[in-house]
Amino acid sequence: MNQKKLRIEELKKEKNAVIMAHYYVEDEVQEIADYIGDSYYLSDVATKIDADVIVLCGVVFMGEGAKILNPDKKVLIPAADANCPMAHMATVEKIQEMREKYDDLAVVCYVNSIAELKAASDVCVTSANALKIVKALPNKNIFFIPDQNLAHYIADQLPEKNFIFNDGYCHVHHAVTADEIQEAKKQTPEALVMVHPECKPEVTALADYIGSTSGIIDFATKSDAKEFIVVTEMGVLYELRHRNPDKTFHVVGKAQVCENMKKITVDKVIKVLEQEDTEILMETELMDAAHKPMIRMLELAAQ
Ligand code: 13P
Ligand code: SF4
Repeated sequence: MNQKKLRIEELKKEKNAVIMAHYYVEDEVQEIADYIGDSYYLSDVATKIDADVIVLCGVVFMGEGAKILNPDKKVLIPAADANCPMAHMATVEKIQEMREKYDDLAVVCYVNSIAELKAASDVCVTSANALKIVKALPNKNIFFIPDQNLAHYIADQLPEKNFIFNDGYCHVHHAVTADEIQEAKKQTPEALVMVHPECKPEVTALADYIGSTSGIIDFATKSDAKEFIVVTEMGVLYELRHRNPDKTFHVVGKAQVCENMKKITVDKVIKVLEQEDTEILMETELMDAAHKPMIRMLELAAQ
């Protein structure tokens, strides 16, 4: 590993590159990253870094997000096939249909979506800022794409809004059942349950804390409790254990693993830095259209 780390350092210097990673990638990849965080952090930090090349260790929509926010930088993705299925679970046609059907409509696009969906939307959100942003929108009607579960979680807290739901979901989080949570609670009754809002409403209903990956890590770090049940992708355990060596973290069911995030390896990071072969490229028109809702998200989140 040390040899690989040295090679990465060499390549980063040569290319003026930085490595950004989502909490869901393998531990060894998080270890070599310059910036690690949730989807909101990665979008925000992408606008603030001074580098010619960004290596985005995450799924394709994250690479697209970094490119949309940095059209003049080279954005490389170590695994071009690391595709998030949920990112495709809405259509531009459906957005147009809703725009015709409803007056006073805002199309709110979870960043876990392809660039074409972002481009057709009014504002982007992540799980860390969706509540704040939807609340701040002047519109009564909200078409929230693509995730039904995050939409329901936000809608329940904003009864003044009229939500139109889309039927997308993250197969990793949607598969968790309330029975699995009850079983985990029975095994460790002292543990606090931390759940990502991509889980079903009957699962979030059993949580002591609901939030993004960063929110979950912060909650556990600040809490006086010593045991936690983690209901999100297992990659977060790396940072949770790193920051909290004296606390115990349990998983539910067979544990949640996003096979697409796991396609990123250290060897692939080295290869993409050497060969620059899997670059994120999009039409300028598409990037310009998707840039607006992404910037609106960053502005509203910062207020
Ligand atoms: P956050 O990073 O917003 O917590 O989202 C989780 C996720 O599913 C990313 O793919
Ligand atoms: Fe997509 Fe779910 Fe994997 Fe996140 S965890 S990248 S939403 S499949």
